[in-house]
Formats: sequence, structure tokens, C-alpha cells
Amino acid sequence: METQETIIVTGAAGYIGSHTLIELLQEQGYKVLAIDNYSNSSAQTYQRIKQITLATFEIKELDLCDYIALQKETNHLSTIHAIIHFAAYKSVPESVKNPLAYYHNNINSLNNVLRLCEERQIKQFIFSSSCSVYGNTHQLPVTEQTPVQKAESPYGHTKQIGEEMVAAFANANPWFSAVVLRYFNPVGAHHSGLIGELPLNRPNNLVPIITQTALGKNQLTVFGNDYSTRDGSCIRDYIHVSDIAKAHLLAIHYLSKQRHKTAVSLFNLGTGHGVSVLEAINAFEKVSGQKLTYTIGPRRLGDVEAIYANNTWAQHELGWVPKNTIEDMMRSAWKWQQTLESE
Ligand code: WQD
Repeated sequence: METQETIIVTGAAGYIGSHTLIELLQEQGYKVLAIDNYSNSSAQTYQRIKQITLATFEIKELDLCDYIALQKETNHLSTIHAIIHFAAYKSVPESVKNPLAYYHNNINSLNNVLRLCEERQIKQFIFSSSCSVYGNTHQLPVTEQTPVQKAESPYGHTKQIGEEMVAAFANANPWFSAVVLRYFNPVGAHHSGLIGELPLNRPNNLVPIITQTALGKNQLTVFGNDYSTRDGSCIRDYIHVSDIAKAHLLAIHYLSKQRHKTAVSLFNLGTGHGVSVLEAINAFEKVSGQKLTYTIGPRRLGDVEAIYANNTWAQHELGWVPKNTIEDMMRSAWKWQQTLESE
């Protein structure tokens, strides 16, 4: 790739975007334009990324639903190598309460970045999808061939529609190719402890609730211990956010080397191992030395009993090997929680 070519990262100040920005900047030769509207993130994260990488990059604040603004703020770039599109709303319960906001934001922003690909002939595209596209599947582990099921939430539905939009666009434009990454349960934080997921809204996800509970700032309830699993609690495939971030870099290489066999390549990003809620709690207690107080509550509506990935295809095609264990994930999440406390 020409060094003067730019990669546009949307949602670059967000949880996975920020960790991916670090990986891109640490790899020489990538010039980055970071786009975000800070609807669920903070521009301060960029200062931390600069501190970690000692690299510079261009920053634009804009709402991707505004195509004119997107055009204007990218007009100065002579060549755009790729777009990595993270920007989206991501809360499952919020999407159930406010579905139109999710359809409006997630679909329109994707439509506009694809429109920019068309106008500027941007040939490579990476789309953030989710294991939620598999819905309530009983085929475990989940491979990329496991059928997509009716989504459990408007959020999941926007990811399904998004995947179809990318596929339809690739189908209509033979010069364009895309990688769709289906994240399982991204957790943890950068090992520096400088960046992680910002708790701008009250968390719904297990790991931030665990780290907050350890500090007495939240109360953990295990949602159900009567599932047909080894200890009765739900099983998920937790994956370290930095391992997820690295997959994006490999996806760029994959598209650049034209090793892809189809216009749209799909990959599951999970460790391949299921971890139960109680095992996750134990891992946290082990690495933090904190004893967690929690209660067992009823099942949470919409939860699937167990889901974990088969990641062989990502290993084989991308050369992606997730490195972090559940203990590493918990250790980094706990370190990040300490950083948040010291601010
Ligand atoms: C994990 C496990 C809960 C909180 C969601 C989205 C998914 C993806 C990842 C974006 C479950 C249990 C949780 C608590 C608990 N996001 N739990 N007590 O629901 O697997 O996945 O985030 O793409 O699409 O649906 O993640 O972290 O909420 O829950 O017992 O207070 O922890 O029941 O088994 P989930 P989660």
C-alpha cells in the first residue's frame, strides 16, 4: 500500500474503534482519518491513543448520517485505501426501547459510507457485525455457515440488514470487496490501562458490571443458574478487545493481498471457547484478588443459553490467533476500572 493512502476509521473514538486505531498506528505505513460524533465516546480518548502510539492522525467530528458533511470532510484526501466502519449504536436493551433511533442511525450511516465508497471508488471495506445475527441458535459452535436467524432485537436486526447492504453493494460493484467481522462478546481493555470502554451510560454487559461491583458502584445479579449448562449459568465467548482490533489489521492485509475468494468474506471473531457467567466471575476474583458479592436472579429476557464461535476460518484465512485468556481479559478490565477511578 502507498504510504500516502488513507484508511478512514468511523467510530474511531469508540470502544473497538479506539483499540483498532492503536493497532493501525503501530503498524507503519497507515495514515488514518478518525471520524466520530462522540455520541457514545469522548475526544479525550484520542489523546490517550497518541500517548500510547506516539503517532499522529487526522481527526474529524461529524455525524455520518449527514452525507454532505462526510463528503466535505473527506474531500481533501487524494486516495482512500479503505474504510473500517465501526460507528453504530450498540445497546441491545436501548434498541428495544427506541428502535427507530437504531434503524435511523445504523442504517443511514452505513448507507452514507457505502455511498462514499461508490463516489470515491474506495475498494476495501470492513464492517463491524455481531454474533447477534445468529439469534437463538442451537448449532454449537457457530460457524460462518450457521444460518442467520430472526434477530432478537432491533440492534441485531440493524447488523443483519447491514451485512445484506454490504453484500448487495459488493455484488453490484465488482471493484469493491469487503470483510464482515462478527464479534462475539468483546471485553477487556488495552494492556496500558489508558483506554477501555467508557461508562457513559449505565452498563448492561457483564464485565463492566463485575468491575463496578468490585468497587461497590454496582450490584451484580447472575441472570439465571438453571440453564442446561455445566454450572447452570449462561455460556458466552468472551474475546479481548485488542485481539478483535488486531483482526481488523489482518483483514486489511487480506483484502490488499487479494487473497479473498469472494467479494464479501465473513469471519467469526471469538476464542472458540465458551465461558460461563460463574466462570467469568471466578476468573475476575482470581486475577483481582477481590471477592465479589453477587446474587442469583431470574433469567434475563432474550438471553440465549449458550453461544460460542468456531473461529477456524478466521485462523486459516486471516492468520488470526486470539492471544488473551479470560484471566487476561479480566485483568485488563480491572486495570481500566482503576484508571477510571483515579480520574
Ligand atoms: C453476558 C452474560 C448474561 C449482566 C451482548 C449483545 C451482543 C454483543 C455483546 C454487540 C449473559 C450475563 C450479564 C449481568 C449477568 N454486543 N449477565 N448479569 O447479552 O451475551 O451480548 O453484548 O454486538 O450482541 O447481545 O452480553 O455482557 O450483556 O451478557 O448474569 O448483570 O452475562 O445473562 O449470559 P450478551 P452481556
